[in-house]
Amino acid sequence: MNSVDVDLGPRSYPVLIGTGLLENAGSLLREHGLCQTNAFVITNPQVGALYFESLQQALGKAGFMRIVRHEIPATEEGKNWEEFSGCCSALLEAFPDTGSIPLVILLGGGVVGDLGGFAAGVFRRGVPFVQIPTTLLAAVDSSVGGKVAVNFGGVKNIMGIFNQPRLVICDLALLKTLSPRELRSGAAEVIKYGVVCSEALFEQLEGGLEKLLALDGAALIDIVTQCVGLKAGVVARDEFDKKGIRNVLNFGHTIGHALELSANYTLTHGEAISIGMIAATRLSIALGLSSPLLLERLETLLHRANLPTRHPDAPGLFDKIVRAMQMDKKFRDGKNLFVLPTRIGGWQQQENVPWELVYEVVRSVLTVSETLPS
Ligand code: NAD
Ligand code: GLY
Repeated sequence: MNSVDVDLGPRSYPVLIGTGLLENAGSLLREHGLCQTNAFVITNPQVGALYFESLQQALGKAGFMRIVRHEIPATEEGKNWEEFSGCCSALLEAFPDTGSIPLVILLGGGVVGDLGGFAAGVFRRGVPFVQIPTTLLAAVDSSVGGKVAVNFGGVKNIMGIFNQPRLVICDLALLKTLSPRELRSGAAEVIKYGVVCSEALFEQLEGGLEKLLALDGAALIDIVTQCVGLKAGVVARDEFDKKGIRNVLNFGHTIGHALELSANYTLTHGEAISIGMIAATRLSIALGLSSPLLLERLETLLHRANLPTRHPDAPGLFDKIVRAMQMDKKFRDGKNLFVLPTRIGGWQQQENVPWELVYEVVRSVLTVSETLPS
């Protein structure tokens, strides 16, 4: 088992990465000082059917007396205010008095993790919670760093807080039941780290991305550990996203989030980010900040992962994307802000990019023609 520390002073916690950890989840919680006897497990019907029982047994062995299971829908459309409110109601109903405060356990992908971490953060002004990521995306990204939120009013992640888990238990064996599409979706975030944070990781992916997609044990634990280490390093330097450092993690997300929302969540998060990374890289080239070779290498890797690099156009889609993009949380005082790669492993943020250029790159990823502008 590997362990990566997220070093945040009093809010520090380890991310445990290995296989067979779910069966030992109870003892891992105890070893890390979590001594509650009640647990409120948030999951979804798909993940719950696969893994809740094992978790329940593991908790029981470690002395948990009351384990309440709460399910939210298994799609991004379930990451909304009504489900959040339903989750808070279920928490209050199950644990109405202060003597029974539970450990909240989030068993699922980014949707469960984001919604559940938000609920744990506001219930009684915060109860402890633990992430057990079950998707590659959640393992390498969303379970670490404490950004928790739900979508609201047609804007992604607009209602949320920073709330760090006490522990992340990342059991890589759970990824075996992921659909190939969800696996690829997680690969998009892995590729993101390579492009803007680590040339070594990008080159490793160029050398053997297929090993990751085949869940090859050694490659998987190595790559997940690298990604978690990269994220932990960024979060430790800018936990509350105030210094501009954490923005690096949003590479591909400005246009990607807007597309994800505007396409009514017909794309997975990673698929939208894949297209968003292409658009942001084109923007970087147009501004003279990076080279067409970088775009070519990125596009090649995304294609090898079978990830999309463009989206079919549809009436009104462009306008919807532009409107959604203008609500981006990074934008301040009417100025836009984009995270742009400058070389493999390097990035910078650019404010006030001419909107015409932004429109051009958005249009470029909406084309269905085979000869895309680069
Ligand atoms: P998800 O949580 O919707 O899971 C994707 C699908 O995979 C679901 O249908 C789920 O039921 C299924 N699934 C999950 N684990 C499974 C398993 N082990 N076996 C079989 N099926 C399984 O999606 P996701 O890609 O994990 O997360 C996307 C969300 O994460 C988005 O809402 C995005 O905004 C958010 N996100 C948050 C952060 C952050 O820092 N908080 C970072 C990146 C993404
Ligand atoms: N996923 C973006 C962040 O954690 O900052």
